[in-house]
Amino acid sequence: MLYSEKVMDHFQHPRNVGKIEDADGVGEVGNAKCGDIMKMYIKVDENEIITDVKFNTFGCGSAIATSSMATEMIKGKSIKEALAISNKAVVEALDGLPTNKIHCSVLAEEAVKAAVEDYYKRKGLPIPEDLS
Ligand code: FES
Repeated sequence: MLYSEKVMDHFQHPRNVGKIEDADGVGEVGNAKCGDIMKMYIKVDENEIITDVKFNTFGCGSAIATSSMATEMIKGKSIKEALAISNKAVVEALDGLPTNKIHCSVLAEEAVKAAVEDYYKRKGLPIPEDLS
């Protein structure tokens, strides 16, 4: 089979789809390879824990599945822990993606980074180096 059961599950029943109206950080990124777009919203508490996350995408099925899995993986984690989750880890959690679809998983990782960057900007805090 081309796609794992987990990919199909997250594609057909994506978790955390939507928008957070009073988000603490919003990130929007585009995929240079295909032109697809991903928007990520995060809520962050005073201990820098990501308490809620939602995403919207005009992306393909693989982008939807990886973003769905990525949001599940970062929810409840600290910003630092969330940033340490690579697109590779997300793909592994989905039991893999076809090679020509790996670029889709990058959208989720970049959108998380963009949302965190926005969070720091809104707070007037310096942007950590691993984001720039
Ligand atoms: Fe564009 Fe997958 S083809 S994100």
